[in-house]
Amino acid sequence: MTLYEQVFENNKKWVAEKKKTDEKFFEHLAQGQNPEFLYIGCSDSRVSAEEMTGIKPGQMFVHRNVANLVPNNDNSSASVIQYAIAHLNVQHIVVCGHYQCGGIKAAMQPADLGFLNPWLRNIRDVYRLHKTELNAITDEAKRYDRLVELNVEEQCVNVIKMAVWQRSYLQNKTPEIHGWIFDMQTGLLKDLKIDFNKILKNIQEIYDLGTDKIS
Ligand code: CO
Repeated sequence: MTLYEQVFENNKKWVAEKKKTDEKFFEHLAQGQNPEFLYIGCSDSRVSAEEMTGIKPGQMFVHRNVANLVPNNDNSSASVIQYAIAHLNVQHIVVCGHYQCGGIKAAMQPADLGFLNPWLRNIRDVYRLHKTELNAITDEAKRYDRLVELNVEEQCVNVIKMAVWQRSYLQNKTPEIHGWIFDMQTGLLKDLKIDFNKILKNIQEIYDLGTDKIS
């Protein structure tokens, strides 16, 4: 059996298993979603959001793209974030990067990658913002890891810039924003403990959207 055919066999087994533990599992699933998390991660096939967190269907709204970016003018991620905050009322927004990220690696190399150039330029912008720190790291592997982390941090900042998040957070103190790194060599998730409150205070002067000020 090919892997393609296997997928449908796996699906049938999954349905049977779910029904065995909860006869009405799919009836409940069809009634609607109430996810607590919005997860923004990389498209990399090795980083499986639900599997590595044990999150069940209905608990996590997921957006994935190359190198887990939230570019300022990207309608796709912006729509996901808008919907997750304004309609699904998520309590946590996670931007999850990972070491050995091909997108980050590509952005670190001097190459013309055609259609990918504008997308990867977002990562080169992160490098430019943190050039002094990154260039001081002589070990290339460590510099690569650090760019993965800084990219997650800057994508969190991009969420913080958005009016929909500022309005919700200043009124309700939610959703919280978290930066995570998945280390595929150990399988472990690391919380970068982003101080989004401090970032908001720092950038509010520039990205002033007329929302209430944080004191
Ligand atoms: Co990646």
